[in-house]
Amino acid sequence: MKQQPIEGFSKLSKQEKIDWIVQNYLEGDQEYTAILQQYWNADIKLQKLHEEFSENTISNFYMPYGIAPNFLINGELKAIPMAVEESSVVAAASNAAKFWLDKGGFKTKIIGENKIGHTHFTFSGEWEKLQYFFHHVLKQKLFEDTANITHNMRHRGGGILEIELVNKTALLEDYYQLKANFNTQDSMGANFINSCLEQFGSTLKREIEASDQFGQADKDSLSVVMNILSNFTPECIVRAEVSCKIEDLKDPSGIKAEEFAWKFKQAVNIAEIEPYRATTHNKGIMNGVDAVVMATGNDFRATEACAHTYASKDGQYTSLTHCSIEEGIFRFWIDLPISVGVVGGLTNLHPLVKFSLALLGKPSAKELMSIIAVSGLAQNFAALRSLVTTGIQKGHMKMHLFNILNQYGVTEEEKQYFVNYFKDKTASHHEVVTELKRLGSKAIKN
Ligand code: MEV
Repeated sequence: MKQQPIEGFSKLSKQEKIDWIVQNYLEGDQEYTAILQQYWNADIKLQKLHEEFSENTISNFYMPYGIAPNFLINGELKAIPMAVEESSVVAAASNAAKFWLDKGGFKTKIIGENKIGHTHFTFSGEWEKLQYFFHHVLKQKLFEDTANITHNMRHRGGGILEIELVNKTALLEDYYQLKANFNTQDSMGANFINSCLEQFGSTLKREIEASDQFGQADKDSLSVVMNILSNFTPECIVRAEVSCKIEDLKDPSGIKAEEFAWKFKQAVNIAEIEPYRATTHNKGIMNGVDAVVMATGNDFRATEACAHTYASKDGQYTSLTHCSIEEGIFRFWIDLPISVGVVGGLTNLHPLVKFSLALLGKPSAKELMSIIAVSGLAQNFAALRSLVTTGIQKGHMKMHLFNILNQYGVTEEEKQYFVNYFKDKTASHHEVVTELKRLGSKAIKN
């Protein structure tokens, strides 16, 4: 089938969009139309709300929404909402929460809340002149011109904290930055920061143009390339940690506490020096981080980008978590840079996000940062605990079993049979098929 481009797709109604897609890409097969329609919400208002979050919407994409209970965080018990499609993530979080419940739980500390944005510009005049102009004229104007934008945020205790002029010409010819630090209180602050920065760009242009300190050639050389926040927020960062006496590290696998502690620390040390392992290690952390970020309506792409930049900030990609064993005490922690909000964005719009935030006790942004870091640390603890004891597949395949069974459309009785069947051994796709055949199950053809 040869596809044709389309003009004005966004102007078509939802049904017209579907008809066009099915006609042009799916050989008119109405089964696909039915699949899309099956995921529409019967509540028309709710459906419309979801459609309006994005563009060219034709259906909803479900994600399992689960709860990991028993998280003791700074002395408070939390049940953490997680939106994630990967089996075993919620179970792993719940296990880690339970493990630390009687050992003092998780402790967190906000290390910083500053967010950063830049006006990136080029200028070929003298650096000293530009510097003088910035300190004696421009900086003040930047604050004045953004006073309207920052008014409410200042009222809430946030705003623009500092503005610097940065010379980057050693790295890129004529390249400078206006670099600003922001405190955005309970919002993630992307719109706030970007609005301030766009005003910076206009003010910079206007003030240089109007200044008698620069000649026409200098003025003509100024180009504001772009104004944008940075998703790298190394100064908006939270630490979450757990600790206990080594002898309290009992594991059902029967491994001795000292050996467990040593192997666990060794696993973290390997991720600290080996990028291949660090990537998977951090992926496991992000299983926990992203699931809470999603459930609370925050931006998981920003969270991912930030975490990985931070993990490579010293020149080599490394682990986000660390472990120490000193004087008989096992300590395990994460420093997670993360920018999230509990107001604005989807927080008041998406009913499940509203639910998540209510479940978490309507946290401040700082509290939510802590909960997310705890979820990442718990996830990493659970993964390493399995890896250095039983191996990951035992637990993983137990949770994945339902995916395999559903793939074959087995009956509820057969599901129960397989849960028992794999009670004491690692499930595998091959063994499910062999056993279904042996049982003569209708789920398996021939
Ligand atoms: C799987 O999603 C995540 C793990 O691979 C993480 C890890 O290896 O640490 C289990």
